[in-house]
Amino acid sequence: MPTILITGTNRGLGLEAVRQYAADGWTVHACCRNPDDATDLNAIAGDNANVTVHRLDVADFATIDRLADSLNGEAIDVLLNNAGVYGGDRQEFMNDDFAAWSKTFRVNTMAPHRMSEVFVDNVASSGQKVVVIMSTIMASMTGENSGKLHIYRTSKAAVNMVMRLLSVDLAERGITTFSIHPGWVRTDMGGTTAPLSPEESVAGIRQVIAGAGPETNGRFMTWDGNELPW
Ligand SMILES: NC(=O)c1ccc[n+]([C@@H]2O[C@H](COP(=O)([O-])OP(=O)(O)OC[C@H]3O[C@@H](n4cnc5c(N)ncnc54)[C@H](OP(=O)(O)O)[C@@H]3O)[C@@H](O)[C@H]2O)c1
Repeated sequence: MPTILITGTNRGLGLEAVRQYAADGWTVHACCRNPDDATDLNAIAGDNANVTVHRLDVADFATIDRLADSLNGEAIDVLLNNAGVYGGDRQEFMNDDFAAWSKTFRVNTMAPHRMSEVFVDNVASSGQKVVVIMSTIMASMTGENSGKLHIYRTSKAAVNMVMRLLSVDLAERGITTFSIHPGWVRTDMGGTTAPLSPEESVAGIRQVIAGAGPETNGRFMTWDGNELPW
């Protein structure tokens, strides 16, 4: 069975992705900041020998490097850069938090780039060769007309450009790289009024990943298989 590595798996979409890929028999490397507190994730790992939990704070590039060392030589079919932060309460014109902006860029923008660098050989040696970056429709410049959430939106717009660059850099190794909008989903980030359940969103994302190939490279997809404007 194929192998997936997922960041930010102790809750939300990452946790659901672990649940679904594990149930399908994939080998799952489930990363989270604090495995000791990851009750739901540890329960899944306890029931599924194909799930391994790893400690990973994506803002700490030394821990990214250590994880890569420990998985050296292992094929990873799908690298799912899921971990993300919202950026806090102060993110509008004349009410902004630049320290939070920097931290958000490190997690949402720079970390997927670093993850792709250190795991490129693992992905290149796999069968499926896919790098996915969790983005958001809020990063679409064409679609943007509501204002606010400056930190979150710029960090995700920037990671879309990271994805575009990687789609060129990694293409010669046969790797497909794309961004995906998971929909508006009922998680801690999405809130209770979001229309989609994590189960529905992740089921759709898995279908998009399963169908990914050269024609998907460099594209901005939605969870249900459509393409978003930049
Ligand atoms: N939910 C939505 O409606 C929606 C819409 C569009 C895009 N997205 C994107 O989808 C992804 C998952 O969102 P979600 O709704 O599942 O969010 P969530 O419920 O807030 O979960 C975020 C996950 O990211 C992890 N994380 C944050 N900072 C991290 C770090 N430095 N290192 C490692 N892990 C870190 C969190 O771990 P901790 O528990 O340790 O903080 C948590 O596991 C995010 O990239 C988000 O931007 C979500």
